[in-house]
Amino acid sequence: MAAAGILRLTCLALLLRRAGSAAEEYDLEITNNGPITTGAQATVRASLIMKNDSITSNLYHFNWIYAPLILIEKSEQRFHSLINVTSEFPGAFPLSVWVTHRNCWLCRPVARNVTVLHITEFITGNLTIAQIEGSAFIKQGSSSSTDTVTRISFCLHDPSDYFKSAAFVYNWDFGEGMYRITKEPFVYYNHSAVGNRTVHLKVIAEWEQIGNIIHERETVQKTGDFTTALELLDAVKSINVVGSRETHVMENLSLSLHINGSPPLALCWLIKAECIPLEGEKCHLVVINGSCYNLSHTFRAAGQYCLSVRVENGVTMLQTYHEIKVWPTGIQPAFFILLCIALVSVVLGLVLYTTFRSNTQQKDLVEVADFDFSPLSDKNLPSASESDCGQICCRSCCLRSSQETARESHELLLSFYKPVKTYTV
Ligand SMILES: *[C@@H]1O[C@H](CO)[C@@H](O)[C@H](O)[C@H]1NC(C)=O
Ligand SMILES: *[C@@H]1O[C@H](CO)[C@@H](O)[C@H](O)[C@H]1NC(C)=O
Ligand SMILES: *[C@@H]1O[C@H](CO)[C@@H](O)[C@H](O)[C@H]1NC(C)=O
Ligand SMILES: *[C@@H]1O[C@H](CO)[C@@H](O)[C@H](O)[C@H]1NC(C)=O
Ligand SMILES: *[C@@H]1O[C@H](CO)[C@@H](O)[C@H](O)[C@H]1NC(C)=O
Ligand SMILES: *[C@@H]1O[C@H](CO)[C@@H](O)[C@H](O)[C@H]1NC(C)=O
Ligand SMILES: *[C@@H]1O[C@H](CO)[C@@H](O)[C@H](O)[C@H]1NC(C)=O
Ligand SMILES: *[C@@H]1O[C@H](CO)[C@@H](O)[C@H](O)[C@H]1NC(C)=O
Ligand SMILES: *[C@@H]1O[C@H](CO)[C@@H](O)[C@H](O)[C@H]1NC(C)=O
Repeated sequence: MAAAGILRLTCLALLLRRAGSAAEEYDLEITNNGPITTGAQATVRASLIMKNDSITSNLYHFNWIYAPLILIEKSEQRFHSLINVTSEFPGAFPLSVWVTHRNCWLCRPVARNVTVLHITEFITGNLTIAQIEGSAFIKQGSSSSTDTVTRISFCLHDPSDYFKSAAFVYNWDFGEGMYRITKEPFVYYNHSAVGNRTVHLKVIAEWEQIGNIIHERETVQKTGDFTTALELLDAVKSINVVGSRETHVMENLSLSLHINGSPPLALCWLIKAECIPLEGEKCHLVVINGSCYNLSHTFRAAGQYCLSVRVENGVTMLQTYHEIKVWPTGIQPAFFILLCIALVSVVLGLVLYTTFRSNTQQKDLVEVADFDFSPLSDKNLPSASESDCGQICCRSCCLRSSQETARESHELLLSFYKPVKTYTV
């Protein structure tokens, strides 16, 4: 069967090559809605497309070759034609079409094309997996996050409504030793662990029909086996940027990105003056298998920068930002602080100097008018004489005198009620 098909396909190809040059102004598009199940009908469409608008006034005729398929219906419009075909036998059947001018049947065809229709004895369709996150329904292809419920559904491909009276039974194998049988073409399932799974489905369709030969009611059964791979990933939970927040112009800054999430991870980073969400932004894209990525960057100008990072793993996306201060070359932050300290101390020294100067002048005045409130005693006499020297003596001498005056004031308190007071200058 297949060999015959290949033979016919080669013949058609040869025919097509012979008509090649005439077909330059036209395109003849041909499509079929297969694969279909044996006994069901397939529709094959052909459309003639003009490349040059000046020839649209012509009329055309569509010629089909569909044997050994059985023709159910053929229809033709101005630039389109379709045929419905069926077969009781499975296989890959080439169908060809060529277009001639209507008024010139035997002229060279203006265009030709060929399509291959697949017919199988099994049920046709496919399995889709969708992940349910909250109330939203997100199609994830074959990736899914753990601890979230997935909806696995079977989509029957039956364009001619061949299975309209059939009753279906679905046998699900979730690849974790878990099985389920349903009458609906979908299940909700909670996969537990990260990893790769294979979900199997066996579909059984059963219906009754009047037999062709004996005209008795007979039960017809068709089956189909479907498999889909499921990659269970963990959502990206965190991005941790490890490294300095300060660097210098023309210095190599190295940063480590630690990511908590199932690899492979699509990581995209960008360093700019502001932190920006990397939606449609151009960024440095890297795909990593592990959980760590090292990046190094050299800044050309001083200022405030921001590293924006976006990480995706087919399940979730996460962004983070890391601010970086870039200092001009040579000026270390420590050096800068030292400079400040030096400046402050100079100013402080100046202030201290001026205050000291004015203080000594005031001290002179005070000491000139220094009173002794203490009662007349032998002990206080030397202090008074010392106080006298204050004008001429060194600073330490004066300090001692002020200490002594403190003691004197203490004594003054004790002797507050003593009537006799002497004043010494
Ligand atoms: C034949 O049909 C296919 C499918 O429609 C189309 O992509 C292709 O361009 C066609 N070839 C020609 C020569 O028209
Ligand atoms: C369209 O056809 C006309 C007449 O045959 C021809 O002169 C013209 O060059 C064609 N244009 C293109 C784009 O082929
Ligand atoms: C041919 O196929 C088309 C599309 O599948 C359908 O609408 C139409 O009813 C079919 N014709 C017959 C006669 O079955
Ligand atoms: C699944 O089937 C639908 C409808 O038949 C089709 O549109 C889709 O492309 C199929 N998907 C795959 C992955 O085959
Ligand atoms: C899915 O399974 C996990 C553990 O296996 C459980 O913690 C979680 O609650 C389940 N979710 C639902 C919606 O059943
Ligand atoms: C799961 O399958 C994908 C793609 O087929 C592959 O890249 C990945 O390494 C697999 N993971 C494991 C844990 O086997
Ligand atoms: C920066 O340092 C890293 C390692 O620390 C090195 O791989 C990279 O080549 C350096 N880049 C430049 C521009 O020196
Ligand atoms: C990363 O993963 C791909 C596909 O899963 C694999 O071919 C490649 O060897 C891995 N690289 C490393 C460094 O593990
Ligand atoms: C990143 O750098 C650290 C030390 O700086 C090193 O231990 C680690 O292996 C590096 N990782 C990669 C993926 O280069």
